[in-house]
Amino acid sequence: MCGIVCYVGNKQAGPILLEGLRQLEYRGYDSAGLAIQDGNNIECYRSKGKIAALESRLEGLDIKGTVGIAHTRWATHGEPSEKNAHPHTNTDKNVFVIHNGIIENYYFLKKKLKKNGARFRSDTDTEILAHLIGFNYNGDLNDAVRKTMEQVEGTFGLAVIHKNSPDEIVIARRGSPLVIGIGEDGHFAASDVSAMVRYTNKVVHIQDNEIATLTMDNFSISTAQAKPINRKTETVEWGTEDTELDGFPHYMLKEIFEQPDTIKNAIRGRLEQGEGVPKLGGIMPVWDSLKESRHLVIVACGTSYYAGSVGKYVFEKLTEIDVQVELASEFRYRKLNFAPNTFIIALSQSGETADTLAAIREAKRKGARLLGIVNVVGSSISRETEAGVYNHAGPEIGVASTKIFTSQLTILTLMALLLGRYQNLSLTEGVEAIRAIQSLPEQVREVLSQANRIEAIAEKYCRYNNWLFLGRKYNYPVAMEGALKLKEVSYIHAEGYPAGEMKHGPIALINPEMPTVAIVPKDDIYEKMISNISEIKARKGKVIAIVTEGDDKIKELADDVIEIPPTLQFLNPILTVIPCQLLAYYCAGFLNREIDKPRNLAKSVTVE
Ligand code: M6R
Repeated sequence: MCGIVCYVGNKQAGPILLEGLRQLEYRGYDSAGLAIQDGNNIECYRSKGKIAALESRLEGLDIKGTVGIAHTRWATHGEPSEKNAHPHTNTDKNVFVIHNGIIENYYFLKKKLKKNGARFRSDTDTEILAHLIGFNYNGDLNDAVRKTMEQVEGTFGLAVIHKNSPDEIVIARRGSPLVIGIGEDGHFAASDVSAMVRYTNKVVHIQDNEIATLTMDNFSISTAQAKPINRKTETVEWGTEDTELDGFPHYMLKEIFEQPDTIKNAIRGRLEQGEGVPKLGGIMPVWDSLKESRHLVIVACGTSYYAGSVGKYVFEKLTEIDVQVELASEFRYRKLNFAPNTFIIALSQSGETADTLAAIREAKRKGARLLGIVNVVGSSISRETEAGVYNHAGPEIGVASTKIFTSQLTILTLMALLLGRYQNLSLTEGVEAIRAIQSLPEQVREVLSQANRIEAIAEKYCRYNNWLFLGRKYNYPVAMEGALKLKEVSYIHAEGYPAGEMKHGPIALINPEMPTVAIVPKDDIYEKMISNISEIKARKGKVIAIVTEGDDKIKELADDVIEIPPTLQFLNPILTVIPCQLLAYYCAGFLNREIDKPRNLAKSVTVE
């Protein structure tokens, strides 16, 4: 979604802002712009399309100024165009605003502002903010923003500069992330630390309904009621090297290949082999209640939801707990009745997904306890949950989530194992599970070593317009995730289905033009999957099978076979998803898609 980056310091702001915008590109956007204050004037430049277009616009211009705000826009109100790109300004062109989020009462406010003489130049909701701040400004920009916050409904992460307050930037947040960066030559603000990690790893997170003023030497945070806030500085664990391509053509491929390491990071220091019990320090603050809980609800969106859906099967296998998995966007509007001592697990890579955040807030209101499994340290979900576990997977930049899926599965498995060992799972089962988990990084590496073969399979099938992904039990959510990956990056229509449902409808689609990816490792429903594959073959459908090494039976049935090493049944998804990710990646490549930034998509969905 939209991205914000700001700088105030003793360096020229232009190059710093452009570099920050480039680091935000992965979030998805359709236009970009910046405004720079030179002490007397503010110059603003915007363009439709890529940051490269903005850069060529700026080429040859001598833009001076050490205070500036910059933005990448993902259209909500108003088409992608130069006039709708941020920053937006007021009638007198002395206020410049960038904004992530949606102003819900913009229609009403726009009418009112027009009556008061405001001249609108865009179709956006954001422009309201510029006019309101302009009307509210009385020499104190922080105060003007504070008054504006009282007038607007909806969500925002915003940054403002004013011609007559030349040394400062004011930022404010309600529902859309913002973080301050403390650099050696000034201060930064951004919607995402990756925009400033090149300059600093010291950050301070802004929370909802807070406002902050940044100058070259200082920053101050206060509540919407002007009560000062003293917040601890945090250190970001990763650096610029984590946001570079490292020789890979795309972030998606880099992140797929990082999985042996990200799985290792998810288990590092968390496995106690002798006792067959994982150690999860992050959930210890709630352990006394959690270990007695018999009801868990996993809430998430997209890929995280599919990881949660595998997690449900794993919890059912290893514990006595009743687990529900819910799409956050639906869950937040349901009438919720929780059994006593119900825990919600919010599963989110970014920790900022608007629906997941809203779902946990609603669940909390109804008395549930909150846990998080989150990758981004200090993100909203990590702060709003009582306890939780970090993925430590490093930044995920490709819009299509890959490494986070296997990391989330690893952590959910550790959590289930920990609770299971407290319940009925034996020492032998615990030790066996831990041994199998420890082997996963090497086994993932083995699957990755087949990348060339998978690329050849992708080349063979990438021109087919409709695909089916089938799996059962642990691998049913993997089928859903495989289909999601393929549609996101290659724009091929794909459906994921539990194979048992085939006869209830989807089998009507099977013909020689519709390939099926069948996820069929050796497990207790293997024979049922074989029947499904036979039914597809009998209708001349093509089958790409993902199987356990040495499965000769399938080789006779399927058109193409990809092998995974043997593991415990509930760990299979961590291996079976890898060929699905690679198939999606290579198909997208053969079709010349924009793999890391697929059309219409954003990395972090921070609006509803
Ligand atoms: O940051 P989150 O894990 O909360 O994001 C959830 C979804 O928006 C995300 O998984 C999305 O579906 C990805 N594009 C999937 O590749």
